[in-house]
Amino acid sequence: MSSFLALLGGKPVRTQPFPDWPVWGPPEERRLLRTLRSGKWGRLQGPEVEEFEQTFATQHGCRHGIAVVNGTVSLRIGLLAAGIQAGDEVIVPPYTFLSTASAVIEANAIPVFVDVDPETYNLDPQAVAAAITPRTRAIIPVHFAGLPADMTALMALAKKHNLTVIEDAAHAHGASYKGQPAGSIGHLGSFSFQSSKNLTSGEGGLITSNDDVLAAACRSIQNCGRIPEGVWYEHHVISANYRLGEFQGAILNCQLKRLERQSITRDRNGRYLAERISRLPGVRPQKRTADCTRHSYHLFMLRLDSEAFGAPRAAVIQALQAEGIPCSPGYGYPLHRQPLFRQQNFGPYLPDPAVRARFNRVECPQSDRICQDSIWIEHSRFLGPKADMIHIAEAFEKIHEHREALTLWTKKQPAPAKRG
Ligand SMILES: Cc1ncc(COP(=O)(O)O)c(C=O)c1O
Repeated sequence: MSSFLALLGGKPVRTQPFPDWPVWGPPEERRLLRTLRSGKWGRLQGPEVEEFEQTFATQHGCRHGIAVVNGTVSLRIGLLAAGIQAGDEVIVPPYTFLSTASAVIEANAIPVFVDVDPETYNLDPQAVAAAITPRTRAIIPVHFAGLPADMTALMALAKKHNLTVIEDAAHAHGASYKGQPAGSIGHLGSFSFQSSKNLTSGEGGLITSNDDVLAAACRSIQNCGRIPEGVWYEHHVISANYRLGEFQGAILNCQLKRLERQSITRDRNGRYLAERISRLPGVRPQKRTADCTRHSYHLFMLRLDSEAFGAPRAAVIQALQAEGIPCSPGYGYPLHRQPLFRQQNFGPYLPDPAVRARFNRVECPQSDRICQDSIWIEHSRFLGPKADMIHIAEAFEKIHEHREALTLWTKKQPAPAKRG
């Protein structure tokens, strides 16, 4: 192949930028301006959020959509709506963003960390089955990176043990499992529209459901505990104003029109890249299960077996960046190793010392290992033509070809300074 690695002074594989995120244009400008001029800026006055709730829910296979301020609150509202009580246990993976577990604590319940599958990075149903106790009330599977979790196995466990399943679909807008949209398979689904997400309004979230009772409970909690037949200053349950505003609704209505095409492009590009780079020794992209009918590729993830590849992960990431391929190692460690959980800084929640002590004993070796060897590439890199994927693949191939030079270079670098 080509000459030197760009990291060592050679010509980079790619010099032009990848597509920017977010994608926006005249439709967003027009709709935002219309909302501004209407003076109807709140969910209770304007049409935007209501339209978005209905369209998003329908597009994701659900009768109900309840828009809220973010994708953490949506998880917490789902738990409250499901009747989760103090001391109840909720099974969550540790290889995910903070919110999947912190929402459980903020619902005054106990997150129980269960390890993930080493190839899909999603909850391992066998490990879930082994973790169920008489106190287990719910499971929050994350469709990590946009690959749907093993919902058939998880729903079967939920049915057997009478558990509520809340899909954390923060990465999975437009993803599908056996043809069914993510967010429509569990009892509730939770989406985020935070800046980095595949559908964004800067901040925002939404709960999906096909269960009329759960949806009504979520709607009430989202709106200060009001009920449809009640009067305005009548509040029925512990709740708050979690409503999304009309400016966000206006943007989301435009963004949603772009989602289907963007999802098709991401899926096509991600599939191509995974197939091509998996031919390299030691490169193991997230395993696409047969049940995944669409991967939303919020992240393109792979695990690198440094020994088989012939160079350490940190050096490969640096080399990829130098070749013009933006990427990162992802999480430094899984959730249960976060200071929050190690020191049990739970504020007023989970006061029982015996419950707190559990967090010092969590063992999830698969999640540990994934943190040590993963590489992430963000979804917006997958919105361009196939030529972009060829560049990413060529960068991997080039680095593999020059692995010895890269390893030698790594050995000559000064050791990173120790903290503390
Ligand atoms: C898996 C997962 N769940 C939940 C959330 C929370 O979403 P938000 O930031 O909108 O609260 C995120 C956000 O990064 C996430 O990645």
